Amino acid sequence: MRAVLVGTMLAWRAGGLQRSHGCWSAGGLQQRAARSSVAAAPPKSFEAAPPQNIAAAPPQPIADASEPAFRAWLDESLRDAPRRDVYGGIYDECAAAVVRWRRRYHGNPQLWKRLMKERLVKELVECAPVIAATRDFVAEQHERVTIVDLCSGKGYLSMFLSELLPPDRVERCVLVDKAWPHCHAVPKPSHINWDHVYGSHDAPDGTTTSYFDAWPIRLTTSKQNLKCPSTTRGMVRAIFDRAPGPVAVLAVHLCGTLSLRALDLFNSQPATQFLVLKPCCLPPMLHAVRNETFVVGGHAFDAADVASHGKFRGGDWIGPPRRAIQPKFERWAAHLEAGALVRAGGRKSLERSEVQTKGGFQNLYIFAEHDRPSARLWDGLRARGRMPALR
Ligand SMILES: C[S@@+](CC[C@H](N)C(=O)[O-])C[C@H]1O[C@@H](n2cnc3c(N)ncnc32)[C@H](O)[C@@H]1O
Repeated sequence: MRAVLVGTMLAWRAGGLQRSHGCWSAGGLQQRAARSSVAAAPPKSFEAAPPQNIAAAPPQPIADASEPAFRAWLDESLRDAPRRDVYGGIYDECAAAVVRWRRRYHGNPQLWKRLMKERLVKELVECAPVIAATRDFVAEQHERVTIVDLCSGKGYLSMFLSELLPPDRVERCVLVDKAWPHCHAVPKPSHINWDHVYGSHDAPDGTTTSYFDAWPIRLTTSKQNLKCPSTTRGMVRAIFDRAPGPVAVLAVHLCGTLSLRALDLFNSQPATQFLVLKPCCLPPMLHAVRNETFVVGGHAFDAADVASHGKFRGGDWIGPPRRAIQPKFERWAAHLEAGALVRAGGRKSLERSEVQTKGGFQNLYIFAEHDRPSARLWDGLRARGRMPALR
């Protein structure tokens, strides 16, 4: 029988679920014999190349550089950033926010060193289309919006949104990631360090600054394994069911089948109103070898159509030449868009925004909104120059 990998909120078409490491996983799918065209072993022509998304930033000034020198470095790093013509305003606002963070964390150099990586500039550029669209969406809502930042990592996207969105219109940003410590637990080295959210600093004069209170819009973390249906159900109860207004699901750089999980939350949760999904790596070849079919939002497609070898390791791409997998990536994004089920009158689109210019091709964003489309959001997307998403 053919294996069918369905979104967690939807029914399984064939095969039973199996318990694996405490979570439900696709590992228990019934499988039919692998097709001979699908190679389990990586092809020989692998490349190991740097991500090469934007021009290499100039070296960061030393930690104790003056604030003007630091701001000058940021401005210089963003001067020729892709799509500056469209997102230059957002780049500048984000740069000003980073300077405020630096001020906030002054006196805590270890924390700042952990946070202020040069890749922050790349993250900023790749988040700009998400920030712009979310801002337009929020501006049209009558109730306070809850932002759910899926697979947040440290949470750069939410950190920018906290600084750029109007605080009176946003309830909070929830940073969802499996690598956070559990609530109230003592963080382990393997966890994402959350001091930039919950930590504090004691100044020599005896005053204490709470970082949690310093964010203009509240940030909270939520440890969730999105591939685990039981924890996802708990997350729905704790976040989506309790949201006082619409929920915006933002999913930036989701690897492999995590993108399907983001779509599940958009498709199945009544509180969810808005989705931005920026997929990252393709699903691993294992899914094709197992001959699986992905099903999301009633849309079904073969894993073999989209699965690929290759992944980033420590910022390096280890896998086939990336131009060779670009067509698969475009098919993957098109399938994901097809799997977004917008409620009556809603709208969705797959957009290309060339934020990766030097070898990177992950320039596709899926925007979807349920029910009544927000004019400002869709006009904004059009004004920022929607490019044909697929060649
Ligand atoms: C490529 S990073 C993206 C981080 C951030 N969104 C960004 O754009 O920089 C992927 C994140 O997904 C998280 N992740 C991986 N598998 C996950 C899962 N099953 N459930 C929740 N988070 C997961 C990782 O811990 C990591 O922080």
